[in-house]
Amino acid sequence: MEKNDFAVAGDGSRLVFEVNGKRFEVEEVDPSTTLLDFLRSATPFKSVKLGCGEGGCGACVVVLSRFNPVLNQTEIFSVSSCLTLLCSLNGFSITTTEGLGNTKHGFHPIHQRFAGFHASQCGFCTPGFCMSFFSALANADTSAQPPPSGFSNLTASQAQTAVTGNLCRCTGYRPIADACKSFAADADIEDLGMNVFAKGELPPYDPEDDVWPYVRVCKQECSSTVLNSESLSWFTPVSLEELSSLVADGARNKLVVGNTGTGYYKEAERYDKYIDLRYIPELLMVTKDESGIEFGAAFPISRVISSLKEEGEGKSDLVLTKIAQHMERVASIFIRNSASIGGNLVMAQRRSFPSDIATLLLAVGSTVALLRGRTQERITMDEFLYGPPLAPTDVLLSVHIPFLDSGSRVCFESYRAAPRPLGNALPYLNAAFLADVSFTESGGVSFNYARLAFGAYGTDHATRAREVEEYLAGKTLTVEVLDEAVRIVKLSVEPKDGTTHPAYRKSLAVSFLFSFLTTFIDVSSPTFFGSLSEVAAASNEETDTAKQLVESSDYYPVGEPIPKVEAIIQASGEAVYVDDIPSPPRCLHGALVYSTKPLARVKGVSFEAVQEPSGIVDVISAKVIPQGGQNFGATALFGSEYLFADDTTASAGDIIAFVVARSQKEANVAARMAQVDYDTQGLDPPILTVEEAVENSSFFDTPFYEPHLKPEMVGDFSKGMAEADHKILSQEITLGSQYYFYMETQTALAIPDEDNCMVVYSSVQSPEYVQIAIARCLGVSEHNVRVITRRLGGAFGGKCQRAMKVATACALAAQKLRRPVRSYIDRNADMIIAGGRHPMKITYTVGFKESGKLTALHVDILIDAGFFIDVSPFIPYMLVAGLKKYDWGALSFDIKLCKTNNTSKSMMRAPGDVQGNFIAEAIVERVASLLSMEASSVREINFHTSESLKLFYAEAAGEASEYTLPRIWDDLIRSSCYMERTVAVEQFNRSNIWRKRGISCVPVVYKVTVSGKPGKVSILNDGSVVVEVGGIEMGQGMYTKVKQATTYALSLIKCDGMDNLIEKVRVVQSDTLSLVQGGLTGGSTTSEACCAAVIQCSTLLVERLSPLATTLKDEQGSLEWNDLIREAHKQSINLAANSYFLPESTSKQYLNYGAAVSEVEICVLTGEKSILRTDIIYDCGQSLNPAVDMGQIEGSFTQGVGFFMLEEYLTNEEGLVTTNSTWDYKIPSLDNVPKEFNAKVLHTGHLPDRVLSSKASGEPPLVLAASVYCGIRAAVVEARKQLKGWGATQGTDADFQLDVPATLPVVKQHCGLDYVEAYLRNLLAP
Ligand SMILES: Cc1cc2nc3c(=O)[nH]c(=O)nc-3n(C[C@H](O)[C@H](O)[C@H](O)COP(=O)(O)OP(=O)(O)OC[C@H]3O[C@@H](n4cnc5c(N)ncnc54)[C@H](O)[C@@H]3O)c2cc1C
Ligand code: FES
Ligand code: FES
Repeated sequence: MEKNDFAVAGDGSRLVFEVNGKRFEVEEVDPSTTLLDFLRSATPFKSVKLGCGEGGCGACVVVLSRFNPVLNQTEIFSVSSCLTLLCSLNGFSITTTEGLGNTKHGFHPIHQRFAGFHASQCGFCTPGFCMSFFSALANADTSAQPPPSGFSNLTASQAQTAVTGNLCRCTGYRPIADACKSFAADADIEDLGMNVFAKGELPPYDPEDDVWPYVRVCKQECSSTVLNSESLSWFTPVSLEELSSLVADGARNKLVVGNTGTGYYKEAERYDKYIDLRYIPELLMVTKDESGIEFGAAFPISRVISSLKEEGEGKSDLVLTKIAQHMERVASIFIRNSASIGGNLVMAQRRSFPSDIATLLLAVGSTVALLRGRTQERITMDEFLYGPPLAPTDVLLSVHIPFLDSGSRVCFESYRAAPRPLGNALPYLNAAFLADVSFTESGGVSFNYARLAFGAYGTDHATRAREVEEYLAGKTLTVEVLDEAVRIVKLSVEPKDGTTHPAYRKSLAVSFLFSFLTTFIDVSSPTFFGSLSEVAAASNEETDTAKQLVESSDYYPVGEPIPKVEAIIQASGEAVYVDDIPSPPRCLHGALVYSTKPLARVKGVSFEAVQEPSGIVDVISAKVIPQGGQNFGATALFGSEYLFADDTTASAGDIIAFVVARSQKEANVAARMAQVDYDTQGLDPPILTVEEAVENSSFFDTPFYEPHLKPEMVGDFSKGMAEADHKILSQEITLGSQYYFYMETQTALAIPDEDNCMVVYSSVQSPEYVQIAIARCLGVSEHNVRVITRRLGGAFGGKCQRAMKVATACALAAQKLRRPVRSYIDRNADMIIAGGRHPMKITYTVGFKESGKLTALHVDILIDAGFFIDVSPFIPYMLVAGLKKYDWGALSFDIKLCKTNNTSKSMMRAPGDVQGNFIAEAIVERVASLLSMEASSVREINFHTSESLKLFYAEAAGEASEYTLPRIWDDLIRSSCYMERTVAVEQFNRSNIWRKRGISCVPVVYKVTVSGKPGKVSILNDGSVVVEVGGIEMGQGMYTKVKQATTYALSLIKCDGMDNLIEKVRVVQSDTLSLVQGGLTGGSTTSEACCAAVIQCSTLLVERLSPLATTLKDEQGSLEWNDLIREAHKQSINLAANSYFLPESTSKQYLNYGAAVSEVEICVLTGEKSILRTDIIYDCGQSLNPAVDMGQIEGSFTQGVGFFMLEEYLTNEEGLVTTNSTWDYKIPSLDNVPKEFNAKVLHTGHLPDRVLSSKASGEPPLVLAASVYCGIRAAVVEARKQLKGWGATQGTDADFQLDVPATLPVVKQHCGLDYVEAYLRNLLAP
C-alpha cells in the first residue's frame, strides 16, 4: 500500500494521498474509516492520539495541505483526524508531528521549544498542540513582510489563540502558551515563563526551513481526477446533475463535507454510498453582488470567517465583521477548518443541533438555496428552519448573507454564554439582534423594525422573539419600553421540558436583550453604556503574563530545572503509549458492555438481530473463567472487586461483559449495540443516595487492621461551643464528583506467552496489583504474569482499579482465544465506568468569638463511596487532615462511608483533602460574612501556632521551624499586593454594576504519607546506567527526578568524566517480573520515595566501587568513570544494586504548606467568570526539580479550577453518568486559566527527615484553587449588595452557600436571575 515514488497519480478509482512524504494508494477501505483510524492502524505514525473521537480535545490534530491550482498556492490547515474521513483526502498531503521532525532527522523548533519550556508532562496532548500551532506558523509565514530572524510573523496573541481548542489535563497551559509565544516577534523571552534557553539562544526557527516539503507531491496529485470508486463506496460528483443522479437512487446515502457532525451524532449506521459535496462548484463558490455575499454550502466555516472579515473591513460593514467574530467562537480552529457552513445549518434544521450560525443568519435575514430532486429553490432562513426536516435527498446549495450596514441605521450584535468564553463549548443560549433605527427629534431612538433571534436554549431550532419584535416596532426606546420588552422576551424564550437550567437560559435571554437595547438609551450614561462595553472587552483578554521563581538546591544535579525526560519525543510523537505498541499478528480488540441499571439481575446479553454489528469474535463474561481462576477484576488494600457482574449488577457502569471483535471500532459499536436483558423482580430498591444508605445502614467500615486510618478528634466540642459568642448551626454543603479526564483513556494489551504465561502492557498506576488480579482471574501463579508499564497518558488516581479490570478482561480474553487482545476504552464508556471523586454531604455546626476566633467545629459527613470499598477508607482520614488546616479550638466529627449502588468512587488527585480544605474555607467564609469581617483576617486569626499544629497533626507537624505557613502568607500578601488590590477591587465594584470582582487569599496545609518503594541501579560495560523504580511515570516527572537523584548519588565517587553522567542514566519501564513490590504510584510522594531508593542503590554501588577507585586513582593519578567501570566489570564487581526504601516511622508523614491569591471577575448578566490573576507561593523544601514541581503546581491548580468552577459529573436517577463526553463535561481550557499566573517555589532550607530536603508538589496545589472559588463568592457578594441597593429583598444576603462547581448558571443564580429586572424596577421606581 505504501510507496515511495511520486510518479503515479491517482486515476479516481483509488484513493491516493501521502503522509509525511510517504505515498499511499488505497483500493479498499471501509468508507467510514477516519484518518485517525488509518494512521494508527496502517502506518507507523502513532503520534495522532485518540482523546475523545468527538472533535473536542485536539489530541488527534494533523495538518493537511493541498495545492489549489486556481489560487496557485498550497493550502495548509489543521483538522481533527478523528472526524476526518480518509476517503475525503484524495490528493492531500498529511503531516503529523513526526513529519515535522524526529529523533532520526532532527527535531523541529516547535518540539525543542515545547520541551525547553516544560510544556509537556504526560505528553499525550502534545502532538496535537504541536500540529495546531504548526498550522498557525505555516499560515503566518506566508506574509510578504519577513519576520525578524528566529521568529514568525505571528503575534503573541495569535500564537496563543492557535492552540485554544486543544485540551491538556496536566500542565495548566501556561508553559504551552509560552512555548508558542516564543515564536512571536512581539514577545520578549524575558516575559515568558521558566525555560532552558538563555537569552538569544532559542532553537533557531526559519520559516524557510518549513517550505512545504510535500508541495511537489500535492501538485502532482491535484491533477488526478476526483475519487469515484465503487469498491470504496465513495463518490465525488463535480456537478449538480451528477449529484442529483447519485442521490436519486433510493440507496442509503451519506452526503458528507467535513464529517464533523459525527462528533456530535455518533453514527453506528452503515451507508451504501458516501457522496462528497466538496467538488461541486455551486457548493464551493463565494460570490457577491450589491445585495450581499453568498457562500456555497460546502464552504468551511474558517473560510467564511476570513471572507466576511475581508468584506466587512473593505465595506466597513460592521454586521459582517460581527458575524465573523461570533463564528470565531464556534468550535475550534481545527474543526472550523473542515466544518462547512452548510453542514452546520443542515444539522440545525434536521436534527435540532444548537447552532450559533443558524441564530446569526436568522437575525440578519439570510436566505438559502436548496436542491430538491432536480429543482432548485430559494427560501428564507425562517422558512428553512421552521419548515419540516430536510429529506435525505435534499441538498443545501448555498447561503446568502445580505449587506445591511450601509453605515446608517442598522445595528447588529450577537451574544453567547458558554463555559469556555473563546469557543470549543456549546452555549447555554445564543442570540443575534438586528435593528433598524431612526433618531427622533428629541434625541431618542425609535425602532423601525427588529429581528431578534435566540438559539441553543433547548428548542428545535433558532427562533425569533416575534412578540418582542412586534412590540418594539415603531416605539421610541425608553426605560419603560425596555422593561416591557424584557418582560415579553422572558415569555417568548421557553426551553423545552428536560432542558437543563431553564430559568438560567431565560435569564440570559433577558440579559442579552437588555445589553442590546441599552446601547440605544442614554448612550452618554456611563452606568449603562460604559460598563456594558467593558463586558465585551474583558472576555477577549488572553493569558498574557506569568512569572516563576525558584531557588537552587544543595545536591547537584538534583534541584536543577532540567526538562522532563522524554519531553521532546513526546512532542515529536515518538513516545510509545500502550495503544501505540504495534498490534501483534492476529490481535483482537475488546470493548466493555456496562450496566445501565443500578441493581438488576443480568439474564443475558444479545445483539439486535436486525442490524447485528459486524466483526464480533466472542463475548467474554464470567462464564469463561478457567478452572482454578476466579471472577476477579481488581485488588486494593481493603478488598477485591469482581471482574464481571455476571449475576446481579451493583451499579450503573458496572462491567457485564467484554465484546471481542476484529477491530476496536467494531468492538465499540458492538458494545454500544449490546442489549442487556435485566430483571429487577424481587430485588430491593437500589440505594442511590447517602440518605438512603443511612436509612438502610449501608456503610463501609474502616478495616480493623488499619486503626491509624481512623482520624483523631481534637478537644472538647461542647466546651468550645460554650465559649463561643456566635454559632452557626446545622448548615449543609454538598460536593459533587469529578472525572479524571486523563487524555489517554483506559487501555491494555495482553499477549499469551509460552508455558501458560501472559505478557500484559497496561496503562496503570499499580502494575503489581494488575499482576495479582490477572493471576487470580486466570488461576495461575503471579510469576506467569508479566505486566509492563512504560508511561501513562495521565492518570490522576483514575488508573488504579478500573485499569486493572480492563487489563484483566484483556488477559482473560487472550487466554481463552489464545490470541493477543487489546482494548482502548472509548471516552464515553470510560466516563461512565470511571467512578471519580467521592461526592459528599456535609452538615456542620461551628462556634466562634466576636473577634473571629473559632472555638469549636462539628461536622457530620456522609460520603458516597459507591459499591466497592476501593480505597475509600482513606477518604475520611484525608478529609479530616484537610479540615485541620485551621485551629478550630475543638474539632469533632461523625463521618460515614456510605455503600451505595453508584459506581465505585476512587482516588482522585488530592482525594479527601480537597473536600476537607474546601469545607474549612466554606465555613470561614460564612463566619466572616456573619461578622462582616475580611475572610482573610478570619483565616489568619485561626492559623495554627506550632503548639496547636502538634495537637491537630501529631508527629506529622514536624519541627516548629518547618511550619512555614505564616511566612508564606506574609510573603504572598506582600508580593501579590493583596492589600492594594483589595482596595482597587472595592473601587472597581463601586463603579461597575454589571461586572464585579472578588479577591481572596487561601492557605493550604496538606499532610502526605511516604511509603516504601523499591529501586534498582545497574551500571553497564560502557558506563551507562539503567535504573528501575517501583513508580510509574504518568507525567509527573518522576523519571526525571530519579535520573537526577541517581546521578547525584553516583557522582559522589568523584571520578573524571562524570560531568555528563546524567546523559548516561536511563530510567526504564516498570516490569513486574524484574522489580517486585512496586505497589501503587500516587499520593504525591512516590517520586521522592523512588529517589530515595535509587540513592540507596547508588550508595551501595559507590561503596562497592570505592576500593577499586582508590587503588586506580593511586596508580594512575586520575580516574575516568568509564575506565573505572570497565575495570570493575573485569574484576567481577557486582554492578547491579537493589534496594527497598522504607521511611523511618517518625518521618513517614509530613505537612506541606502553600498559599494562593486569586482575583476573579464575574459578569453579573451571564455568570461568566475570568481569573484575572493568581499568585502562588508553595513550599517545596529543596525542590528536586523546580521546573517539574512548577509544572505540578500549575497543573494541579488548574485541575482544582476545574473542580471549583466547571466540571459537572452528573448522573441520571439511576446513577448512570450523563455528562459523558467532551460536549458536556468541560475541563479547563486555555480560556479558563488565570490571565496572569505568578508562582514561586519556595526553598525552605535543610530538612533532615526529607529525601534530599524535598517536599511533595503533585496534589496540594490543587486545593489552592479554592482561592478562585472564594474570589467568585466575594464577587457574587458584591452583586447581591448591588441588588439590595436597588431595593430587592431576596437573594441579597452576604451569608449564602455558593455551590461547587460554581458554573455559569450557579453564579448567575446567586447574583440574581432577575438582576436586570431589579435594576429596571429601581430605575422606574417613583
Ligand atoms: C467539537 C465541535 C464543536 C462544535 N461547536 C459548535 C458551536 O459552538 N456552535 C455551532 O454552531 N456549531 C458547532 N459545531 C458544529 C459544526 O459547526 C458542525 O459540525 C459543522 O459545521 C458541520 O459541517 P460538516 O461539513 O462537518 O458537516 P458533515 O458532518 O459533513 O455533515 C453534517 C450533516 O449534514 C449533512 N449535510 C452536510 N452538507 C450538506 C448539504 N450541503 N446539503 C444537505 N446535507 C448536508 C450531512 O449529510 C450530515 O448529515 C461544533 C462541532 C464540533 C465537532
Ligand atoms: S480525539 Fe480528535 S479531537 Fe479529541
Ligand atoms: S501533558 Fe497535556 S494532557 Fe498530559
